[in-house]
Amino acid sequence: MTKTSSSLPPAWHHVEQHDMFPEHDHDDVARFNFIASMNKYLSQTLGAGNELSYEKRVLPALQKELRREPRSRHEIREAMNRDPYHRIWSAAKRNTMEQRQQISRSIVLPQADALAEKAADLIEAAGNLELDPALEIPPYIKSVDHHCMPGSYHTELVDDDVSAGANYDMGMFATTGGAMGKLTDMAGCAVVDWLRDEYPNFKPKRILDIGCTIGHTVLPIAAAFPEAEVIAIDVAAPVLRYAAARAAALGINNVRFVQASGEDLSRFDDESFDMVYTSMFLHETSNSAISIIMNQIYRVLAPSGLSLHLEQPSYTDEMPLYEQFIRDWDAHNNNEPFWSRLHDTSIHGEMQASGFAASDLFVAKVASASVTEGPEDHGRGAAWHAYGAIKGE
Ligand SMILES: C[S@@+](CC[C@H](N)C(=O)[O-])C[C@H]1O[C@@H](n2cnc3c(N)ncnc32)[C@H](O)[C@@H]1O
Repeated sequence: MTKTSSSLPPAWHHVEQHDMFPEHDHDDVARFNFIASMNKYLSQTLGAGNELSYEKRVLPALQKELRREPRSRHEIREAMNRDPYHRIWSAAKRNTMEQRQQISRSIVLPQADALAEKAADLIEAAGNLELDPALEIPPYIKSVDHHCMPGSYHTELVDDDVSAGANYDMGMFATTGGAMGKLTDMAGCAVVDWLRDEYPNFKPKRILDIGCTIGHTVLPIAAAFPEAEVIAIDVAAPVLRYAAARAAALGINNVRFVQASGEDLSRFDDESFDMVYTSMFLHETSNSAISIIMNQIYRVLAPSGLSLHLEQPSYTDEMPLYEQFIRDWDAHNNNEPFWSRLHDTSIHGEMQASGFAASDLFVAKVASASVTEGPEDHGRGAAWHAYGAIKGE
């Protein structure tokens, strides 16, 4: 996709219809196109009204009430949550998140058994999946319907269920207004481009992706390093089954999907990976989990290996409070409870505590060539902060 400032997202029929993709009809496509356009209109056109309301109405009233400047995004949120414009915008945006789930679930659930069978056949032929039914789903996954997905990633509705994965695959294009590309793989493509520019001689032999969901981000990395053995882990069986079947349908055969937690990488030897990678994963864990995961990563990473974590930027003192407030929207309105805390957390601090030296650390901007112009839809755009480290010898 090319750089564009069009006010319309690309039409949904750009989504790649691989062999594992759920069946759908004309009306389903029309619903997805509506919701993608509505999302974009809310973020790009009506979204600007939030800042206007803040500057013209909410901030002056808050300054008067507090008799000082606001000191935190939380103070701004409390005041904005009383503002009629922001309330209407926020309710409409929440509604698009719920509708996006309803649209894809209404397509996927009636064909859940057929999809499970199709996936089972593809997985059997590819032999690329290892499940662990005894794995305990962490509380930070089990207790939340993440971004309005009923049952989150892990809930099983039929035998050999893949419906959470199919639901995710169908809807991401609409949620992100097509910014992640026809295979929702822009983060992986952006990492590949960034590696080629920054580390052209880097040829990892073993790569670990933690929190892979349907494998959409890791597949371009696996395709860029076809000699590498790639292991993609997740705690949730329905998304992993779908991921394994989808990879097979797309003809990518150097990825093994394994049900495991990033908090327990004991199945992997010390220093056995050249690259350990996460994408938009840490914000769905917890404070204590991050420390454990970083320690595990440091242990399994080989000397000179790369640890790389794509996320939205941390909130620093330099980031204006209004921007922190609007970036926090998903935490309070889209079932992403750890989003806010994570962006207050120093990812580099956690990496350093796990064993990396300060001189090993870096932060890079990793963006897809398809990044659109105009106001950002926070958390849904194709640009990330990559918090990374190269492990010293
Ligand atoms: C937001 S999704 C990540 C999406 C994907 N990596 C991407 O690039 O868009 C978070 C995923 O992490 C998984 N997850 C959460 N906690 C985990 C853990 N401790 N270990 C492994 N996977 C975990 C969830 O099941 C979910 O599939």
